[in-house]
Formats: sequence, C-alpha cells, structure tokens
Amino acid sequence: GAEGLLSGVRVLITAGPTREPIDPVRFLSNHSSGRMGYALASAAHDLGAAVTLVSGPVSLPEPAGVTMVQVQTAAEMFDAVTARFEQADLVVMAAAVADFAVAAQADQKIKKRGRRALTLQLEATPDILAWCGEHRHPGQVLCGFAMETTELVAHATEKLARKGADMIVANSLTTPGAGFGTDTNVVTILTATDGEPHRDDLPMMTKRELAGQILARMAALRVSA
Ligand code: C5P
Repeated sequence: GAEGLLSGVRVLITAGPTREPIDPVRFLSNHSSGRMGYALASAAHDLGAAVTLVSGPVSLPEPAGVTMVQVQTAAEMFDAVTARFEQADLVVMAAAVADFAVAAQADQKIKKRGRRALTLQLEATPDILAWCGEHRHPGQVLCGFAMETTELVAHATEKLARKGADMIVANSLTTPGAGFGTDTNVVTILTATDGEPHRDDLPMMTKRELAGQILARMAALRVSA
C-alpha cells in the first residue's frame, strides 16, 4: 500500500531461467522455477514499491500490479535490465541466467540422421549483475543470488566483491528445503558493510517470507548509504 516500507521506491527484479536456442526447436536452459523472483516482486509491490519484473519463461501467474517484461535469452534479459537500470533504486537479480549460449544458432532443425555425435560451440553470456555493479550510481542497492554445491560462503563472499553487489543471498543446492522448485528456502545472506563481509544465517522459511527479509535489509542499506 501507499504507506508501505517501500512506497515511492522503484524495484527492478529478474526471475526464472533463460533459454538459449540451439536450433528452431531446441534450447539450453536450467531448472529455475522463478518462484523466488516472483515472491520478491509481489512482496515489493505489497510494501508499496513500483516494481518491474524481467522474467524468463516460467509457469507462474503474473503478480498483480507489477510491470512485466518477458524475455527468453540471456542477451534479451541483459538488454531489458540495462535499459531500466538507471531508473531503479533496488535491484535484485534472482534469475538463473544461462552462463553459456550456443555460438551459432542453426537456422534449420539439426538432423540426427548420419550423426553419431554432435558438438555445440558455446560462448559466455554477458553477466548482468556484474554490469549493474559496474554502472551503479549512489543510492542504488544491488542484490544477487548464489547457488552453490560446495563452499557456499566462500564462493558467495567472492561473488559479492567481484560483482560489485551490496548483498548476496546464498543457497546450497544440497540443503533440504532449499533451491529449485521448492516453496521454502534456507539461505545465508552476505552483506558488505564498511568493506567487511557480514554473514547472516537465516532459518528455513517460505520464499515469500524470505522475500520480505531481503527487501527489508535492502531498504535498510539504502537508508544507511
Ligand atoms: O556467477 P553466478 O551465476 O553464480 O552468479 C549468480 C548471480 O549473478 C545471480 O544473482 C544471477 O542472477 C546473476 N547473473 C547475471 N547474469 C549472468 C549470470 C548470473 O545477472 N550472466
């Protein structure tokens, strides 16, 4: 509502997977359901924010009152985010962006007849969060996610610095109740305050509850900046 914690605040969120085409019928993607990003978008809206949600292909209903931008590929998500970044106060990159795309998409369906193997040449996609970290202006608060299978905190701490983010929400793919396709999450939040990484281990909670926690921390960082 108008009296919410984020009233007058502009929030830009990415969610879901991206799809990188191989040929007209096939693509590379991942298991992201979009649930965390969509929970963030509706929680931010309920707190009074003006929310833009840049979403890859998911099977979730569009959150009410949120401006939707639908994309397919990492390159499209990059364009959608960079075009709107300047106008955002809080930026949360919850999308599971493909790290590699097929270098040369085939115009026609690739035929299997006569082939015993197929090699695809992949190339790195642009890192959207790192771009935001490089182009940020004072007053913007930037949050990324990290999903790891080993050394969660070490990798997330490194990501915080390398991507120029204020906050990284780290979840282990191997923890029960965390990660892809679940309604709950178990995370460690890393923030950089005065150059020192600060670690906060949260208990298991719903993605909606976690969304509120993330946004409240981002709002606090914005005020203290
Ligand atoms: O480097 P890694 O993929 O582990 O980083 C995860 C974080 O970076 C997430 O917040 C994700 O949305 C973001 N990311 C991005 N663009 C990419 C890859 C990751 O914005 N190409």
